[in-house]
Amino acid sequence: MTIKIDTLVTELIEASEVSPDITIECFKSYTFDFKSIEKYGSWLPKDYTRNLIHRTNKFELILLCWDGNANTLPHDHNGHFCAMHIIAGKLTERIIPGKGNCRVPGKNHTYNEGDFSLIDHSDRIHSICNLSEERAVSLHLYMPPIDVCSIYQDNGQKLKTKKLSYTTKRNYKNYE
Ligand SMILES: [Fe+2]
Repeated sequence: MTIKIDTLVTELIEASEVSPDITIECFKSYTFDFKSIEKYGSWLPKDYTRNLIHRTNKFELILLCWDGNANTLPHDHNGHFCAMHIIAGKLTERIIPGKGNCRVPGKNHTYNEGDFSLIDHSDRIHSICNLSEERAVSLHLYMPPIDVCSIYQDNGQKLKTKKLSYTTKRNYKNYE
């Protein structure tokens, strides 16, 4: 079912007062086309952008816009929930060796438009890659919001701690 993003935000706020599981179910049950959320996006050449749609102390909803061949560095989610919808294009998850993996390290998993993926409280280390020349767009729900994560080498060795920031938050009105 497709709804407006504002409606999703309202429902996520209500669900997040109940439980993380209910919030994930709410997020999972809707689909979005890029046209309906295009205004939240922004683009950088050969890179990805993090565009804040909404944030409370329980969750943050972010639109990621991936230019062709844009990749993240290997990272963890600091033990937070993360759910991802692929809005447009294809994204590939590469699992890095580490203690929290639920998939085989070194293997790639490709998500197509419309696919949903959940990372629960594991310490999974991964990188997300747009292996195509085409742009991709994904909608991410983090619970609670993630302000800091760790960056790793390809062999799973920790490199540094990284403070996360938003490329844009132009449609966001209540950021503290
Ligand atoms: Fe991630």
